[in-house]
Amino acid sequence: MTFPPASFPANRPRRLRRDDFTRRLVREHAVSANDLIYPVFVLEGQKRRENVASMPGVERLSLDELLPVAQECVELGIPVMALFPVIDSQLKDEKGSESTNPEGLIPTVVRELKKRFPELGVMTDVALDPYTSHGQDGWLDDTGYILNDETVGQLTKQALTQAAAGVDIVAPSDMMDGRIGAIRSALEAHGHIHTRIMAYSAKYASAFYGPFRDAVGSASNLGKSNKKVYQMDPGNSDEALREVAIDLQEGADMVMVKPGMPYLDIVRRVKDEFHVPTFAYQVSGEYAMLKAAAQNGWLDHDAVMMESLLAFKRAGADGVLTYFALEAARLLQRP
Ligand code: PBG
Repeated sequence: MTFPPASFPANRPRRLRRDDFTRRLVREHAVSANDLIYPVFVLEGQKRRENVASMPGVERLSLDELLPVAQECVELGIPVMALFPVIDSQLKDEKGSESTNPEGLIPTVVRELKKRFPELGVMTDVALDPYTSHGQDGWLDDTGYILNDETVGQLTKQALTQAAAGVDIVAPSDMMDGRIGAIRSALEAHGHIHTRIMAYSAKYASAFYGPFRDAVGSASNLGKSNKKVYQMDPGNSDEALREVAIDLQEGADMVMVKPGMPYLDIVRRVKDEFHVPTFAYQVSGEYAMLKAAAQNGWLDHDAVMMESLLAFKRAGADGVLTYFALEAARLLQRP
């Protein structure tokens, strides 16, 4: 090829990159606090804080310790906090019975948060893994296979328990078939017509969930077993569209792709195909990788954090569940 090519110098893309003002002027995507959902881990009891070793900067907190965090979310304009429980091992059983206890940890925390911070959206996970003695998201048959329809029955009761406590958004993260429809009709039948469902529609059987399973204490229960008989195969992409279509048809208000950064192609396909509110979960392993590299001085923490969040927006996500939510929102507030 000879230089200059025919279109040069008519086209000099660097013209628009030359100054900050043109870079800002032509920028297509931006991250704001409104895009963030902050996942938190809650403990029973009072005055308890525990570090999650594999997630630097993330702590498990008892309700009293969580209240100032909720306050900060409100002040920073983070719309939603997502709750994940750490259940005492004596309360775990084969069926995850504690998941439907109206006086259990999650319903108690939901009631208290909604009383004190009515303007903060509260979201809860619908899944049994924090409650089961085996760490799976469902009930098992004699061979250890995860039962579908029986599990959906328990998940539906769990979602109703959360809705009765006043939660704004239920987020089924279990990947059983038919659970969105079952939960939606039960919510309607019980008058919870405003409860929103964010479906973990395309949730992959991913190795990136490792630190989360440490955080909620399901890793040791799960042992060497995996979730491949219900979570999606990382080799699939069309299947994600099928799962999203089913969940929307069954009554999901919002859909989610999980994990996040390694699955941005899925986010883009879902957004382009369905044009519905689409979320991505930047999961524990993604957070751990970025934190570890930043702690070693190998990456610039704030820069990679914001670049990773922007990548979700560019891929078509309307919002991101991220353990960086507080830090990112604080950074966005700085002039
Ligand atoms: C439970 C659930 C998981 C996550 C969210 N809800 C773990 C799993 O499916 O094993 C993972 C979140 C993360 O890694 O940050 N059903």
